[in-house]
Amino acid sequence: MNGKSLFNPLDYSKSLLQEPQRLSDVTSWHEHIPFAFVLTEMLKPRVFVELGTHKGDSYLAFCQAIDTLGLVAGCYAVDTWQGEEHAGFYDESVYEELKAYHNPRYGRFSELVKCTFDEALARFSGESIDLLHIDGLHTYEAVKHDFETWLPKMSGSGVVLFHDTAVRERAFGVWRLWEEISEKYPSFEFKHGHGLGVAAVGSTVPEPLSGLFSADARDAANICRFFHLMGERIAKGRQVQALLESPSWRVTAPLRKMRRIWKKIC
Ligand SMILES: C[S@@+](CC[C@H](N)C(=O)[O-])C[C@H]1O[C@@H](n2cnc3c(N)ncnc32)[C@H](O)[C@@H]1O
Repeated sequence: MNGKSLFNPLDYSKSLLQEPQRLSDVTSWHEHIPFAFVLTEMLKPRVFVELGTHKGDSYLAFCQAIDTLGLVAGCYAVDTWQGEEHAGFYDESVYEELKAYHNPRYGRFSELVKCTFDEALARFSGESIDLLHIDGLHTYEAVKHDFETWLPKMSGSGVVLFHDTAVRERAFGVWRLWEEISEKYPSFEFKHGHGLGVAAVGSTVPEPLSGLFSADARDAANICRFFHLMGERIAKGRQVQALLESPSWRVTAPLRKMRRIWKKIC
């Protein structure tokens, strides 16, 4: 034993082993859902804010975890629900469908805040947010602006998540900001699922995260591989389910079955 407090995901098995209750066809966050569950249990945030929610794949995972753990928390999803050049533009039905799913399940502690990120700032007092997930427009300038404008809202033990730290195409620039953030703050980065950066931006690093941030190269690689495998299971399961529900599968599956039977007979 070297006295180091190691991060052990199995300490959070109640959260880790949950199945996500809602997955849409927006798949980019699916591989991070097991970590979202575990992180929620680690941090027990009193206030969680997401900037960029779209169909809710990431946001609803945090809501599910908060609900299952019975945490006392206020959660806020901020989005215009209009889209942008990276996620694509979409119509009002996306917001309406999310609202219809979200409000009855999580409305008692969570709110869909339909406006721009800048407009939402006034709703939050300084140093009030424990966990912030930034997943809006992914240019360097946009994500830097989002981080800098929301930083004063972070509590003394605040943690910020940055999605898409590993994407280097189509003018994505989160990786550039992440280089700056990870130099300045205690942090950890998952490379799978387009990359997810975790940074403690307050004066205090939440104790459960210290084992993650201080992991040596070998432990860090194992943690990444572990969460990649856990996340891949969810992402692949969703893909299989989508295939089974697709009209082309429903048409061709009986034909394939008939061919198998025919081959057995002949
Ligand atoms: C990448 S998507 C979010 C993906 C989501 N987190 C998930 O799990 O699938 C980005 C979203 O951010 C929203 N968005 C981008 N910039 C915004 C801004 N300045 N204000 C409000 N919403 C914004 C877009 O409408 C879009 O729905």
